[in-house]
Amino acid sequence: MTASSSLPTVFSGAQPTGQLTLGNYMGALRTWVRMQQDYSCIFCVVDLHALTVRQDPQQLRENIFELTALYLACGIDPERSIIFLQSHVPAHSELAWFLSTFTQMGELERMTQFKDKAQQHQQNINAALFTYPVLMAADILLYQTHKVPVGEDQKQHLELTRDVAIRFNGLYGPVFRVPEPLIGNDGVARVKDLQEPSKKMSKSALSELARVMLLDEPDAIVKKFKKAVTDTLGVIQYDEVNQPGVANLLNIWCAATGNSREQALSHFAHNQYGKLKMETAEAVNALLQPIRSRFLQLNSDRGQLQELLLRGAEQARAQARQTMDQVRSVLGLPKAFQ
Ligand code: TYM
Repeated sequence: MTASSSLPTVFSGAQPTGQLTLGNYMGALRTWVRMQQDYSCIFCVVDLHALTVRQDPQQLRENIFELTALYLACGIDPERSIIFLQSHVPAHSELAWFLSTFTQMGELERMTQFKDKAQQHQQNINAALFTYPVLMAADILLYQTHKVPVGEDQKQHLELTRDVAIRFNGLYGPVFRVPEPLIGNDGVARVKDLQEPSKKMSKSALSELARVMLLDEPDAIVKKFKKAVTDTLGVIQYDEVNQPGVANLLNIWCAATGNSREQALSHFAHNQYGKLKMETAEAVNALLQPIRSRFLQLNSDRGQLQELLLRGAEQARAQARQTMDQVRSVLGLPKAFQ
């Protein structure tokens, strides 16, 4: 089964900018894996997006294969879903150009991710960093996507994607499906930084203690949770405002064990933070250990990963072409293919 089946289409992707964090997994990849049952899924390794920040070429190539192996290790099944590399399908950049003529500067200036990244990379505030959300809109609209499972940090980009699609359709007729974001409401749509729990857990945090990586060794995971910042109140209750560190640990424990928030509160009632930290570390280790061992196996066969990406790109190109033919036609551009 591929994304050309009659099931509704899911599209999502992650940047090959180093290993994934627990946030990437809980906020996005885990949902992708589940969605394969009921949707025709397309999962992209978005290397063009990664280029908006200067990358070491060798490291980038390495990261691309590692991320592909991680997709598989997490449970993305290439027999069911399309897995491909964004730069292998030139229609992404092509459609991004067309869509950039329907996107206003003011809309892009409002994007909080651009503001954050411009702050982080002051030496290289390039034009692509600014137009990043247009490329993201192209990724999604190219495949007539129904649903886009992402973490909360991508919400604004999804809203822009919808606005651009609606604007384009308003001018030229129903060329694009207007996609729905799928953002969890279970507290892990934004897994927090373990050291500064008011922020999201991010690959780019300065302290390694701030983030759990999917391939961290069990001991490292225990250490990171033990050192997680909490507060001095000393009660385990769910209060995101006054106890963001504790709320984050509870959310992670729930997501890792499948328990509800109420169950978490009764499980940890009258306990100290140390127990919450240890049990969360153990639950995360139980979740990540099988992924880590599958990854080590998959990542050793680069030939197979390369082949898989090429096959995925072929499938993606075939679908993308249908949308591109329509876009060219409504814009008044003569056909590019027979
Ligand atoms: P990226 O690579 O930053 O992250 C991949 C996915 O992980 C989610 N995520 C989180 N979820 C919960 N808690 C966190 N702390 C956390 N950190 C990251 C992100 O929301 C994302 O879903 N621009 C996108 C990639 C992209 C894309 C697309 C996604 C490009 N084109 C089209 C969907 C559709 C990004 O940089 O994700």
